[in-house]
Amino acid sequence: MKPKKQHVLPLLLLLCSGMAEALEPISTTIAVSMAAALTGFLASYQNLFYYFHECCRPEWISLNKTGLKVDLDTKLFGQHLASRVVLKAVSGFMTNENPKKPLVLSLHGWTGTGKNFISKLIAENIYKEGMHSSYVHVFTSTLHFPHPSQIDAYKAQLQQWIKGNVTNCERSMFIFDEMDKMHPGLIDSIKPYLEYYDKIDGVSYRKSIFVFLSNAGGESIVQTALEFWKAGRSREDLELKDLETSLSLSVFNNNNSGFFRTNLIDKSLIDFFVPFLPLEYLHVVQCAMAEMKARRLEPDRDVADKVARDLVYFPKSERVFSVKGCKTIESKLDYYT
Ligand SMILES: *[C@@H]1O[C@H](CO)[C@@H](O)[C@H](O)[C@H]1NC(C)=O
Ligand SMILES: *[C@@H]1O[C@H](CO)[C@@H](O)[C@H](O)[C@H]1NC(C)=O
Ligand SMILES: *[C@@H]1O[C@H](CO)[C@@H](O)[C@H](O)[C@H]1NC(C)=O
Repeated sequence: MKPKKQHVLPLLLLLCSGMAEALEPISTTIAVSMAAALTGFLASYQNLFYYFHECCRPEWISLNKTGLKVDLDTKLFGQHLASRVVLKAVSGFMTNENPKKPLVLSLHGWTGTGKNFISKLIAENIYKEGMHSSYVHVFTSTLHFPHPSQIDAYKAQLQQWIKGNVTNCERSMFIFDEMDKMHPGLIDSIKPYLEYYDKIDGVSYRKSIFVFLSNAGGESIVQTALEFWKAGRSREDLELKDLETSLSLSVFNNNNSGFFRTNLIDKSLIDFFVPFLPLEYLHVVQCAMAEMKARRLEPDRDVADKVARDLVYFPKSERVFSVKGCKTIESKLDYYT
């Protein structure tokens, strides 16, 4: 058993590293027929595939558009704009064999409205390993870049990380959480990677995805949503154009947005500003029901109502929007079930 295994692994590893694509057409044909000959043999070695860990290939990285759509429709609540924009942006990008630049999404909104959650849904529907994939990277400002005095070291480190990771796999995804707490200079340091360059030092960033999460702009979104509500208009009538301009202005001019006067916005390197609306009572109920389902409990509307009633809403007089969105649902549910 042992010796055979040792013959097979190098071939698999060769395929895994992506070198197969670099071979001449003739040798590829040979490799393919060799692989075909081996298939029957391999089938009897299922365990081998467990040995064979994640690699940067379509078997491990490809968009499940149906899966993403289903997830957005059934697991994310009250975000008709974000759902629509993300589905369109991600599927457009992933089906393009030759994108001209990396996909850059900037997600904005109040806490607990689903920014982290949607990033997770994107990752899970592209990478087989989801957020655990070695090609998905999350940077949190307060964790990775806490000291403003070390900004120069952080810049160098971040550039190196991104370069190293994209060299490993061009279909890498980078999520920057807490952009509003990030030093503006830091984000400008990765600007070259987001541009329309073919290659930088031999590395192409065009197939990577960058996602920025930020509370900045949340105020302006809330303002617009509240105006709609006061005018008796349905929230689903809110359109991207109602929010986009004021959003990008408030983010750009807000001196603690992490984007303050950055060239990213200046040069339109951000492909989509994605607004997250503040959540209403009904959405909180939906979150609670979904969470019960996820815990394999029978969804109970009474419990969901209790949880939702427990949260704080604003403005004080009308109590329309949940202050923390769906953020504290999990711990509240522990209390009521
Ligand atoms: C894509 O997602 C759908 C819906 O979640 C699922 O039924 C299907 O098996 C997925 N396809 C693949 C190839 O994973
Ligand atoms: C990839 O990024 C991670 C941080 O998420 C970093 O620790 C790692 O060193 C990077 N890999 C390379 C090859 O640069
Ligand atoms: C940010 O803007 C506020 C109000 O415009 C101002 O009071 C504050 O000093 C500014 N902070 C910095 C660091 O520029």
